[in-house]
Amino acid sequence: MKRRSCIKAGIVGLGVMAIAEKSKALEYYPKKSDKKWAVIYSTWCGSSRDAGVWISEGMGGIADVFDVRENPDPQKYDHIVVGGSIRSNAVSKEMQDYLAKNKAALKERIRGLFCVMGNMKRPVGPENDKQLIDGHLSKLTEVSGVPGKCFNGRITLSLLEPESYQMMSSMGMTDYDLMKRSDFMDFGKVILDSAKQQTPTAGKPSE
Ligand SMILES: Cc1cc2nc3c(=O)[nH]c(=O)nc-3n(C[C@H](O)[C@H](O)[C@H](O)COP(=O)(O)O)c2cc1C
Repeated sequence: MKRRSCIKAGIVGLGVMAIAEKSKALEYYPKKSDKKWAVIYSTWCGSSRDAGVWISEGMGGIADVFDVRENPDPQKYDHIVVGGSIRSNAVSKEMQDYLAKNKAALKERIRGLFCVMGNMKRPVGPENDKQLIDGHLSKLTEVSGVPGKCFNGRITLSLLEPESYQMMSSMGMTDYDLMKRSDFMDFGKVILDSAKQQTPTAGKPSE
């Protein structure tokens, strides 16, 4: 390779590396806040990823949003929202392990809990919150008395792994989407307001 094209290739390579570095963490923070917020979610096909981003947007976009598989360090945050999609009446094993491993640090930081579920396409209600927030996430985290809510989710058959695809198809399930962004954003506001009551500066924008 000629010297000039070699330098050119090097520059292009550095540019690609910079983009890769930038896009490594799923951190969305259009606005800064004087308290650090994180939303940590678990998902199979992305419902709870969108839920996490929308909850943060409802809070004015001040939270970093992490897939639990990124293993974020809870000690770096003042306030944390935890939630995930439901299969067989539970959040994923990865989320359960993460909650167990980080229980002490999370316990003093969790400000909200959420679940995204199918509920056989029926609208979710207080009985779902009782089962999956009080009876599941609150138990795993040992956190209660913070806003907690279940939301209807969605199915995208083409995103399912073969076993689940088989199962859902045999049940006659087709694609559906019952997620409403404004519901998640409203929940983000509820969480922020509740945290502000405990710590008035919890959502104060900073320079
Ligand atoms: C294999 C499988 C098992 C599921 N189990 C439940 C369940 O026990 N209760 C429920 O309400 N929804 C259940 N659902 C529906 C999902 O919770 C819902 O579709 C959710 O939005 C999927 O989240 P995801 O995009 O992270 O996969 C199940 C879906 C699949 C594919």
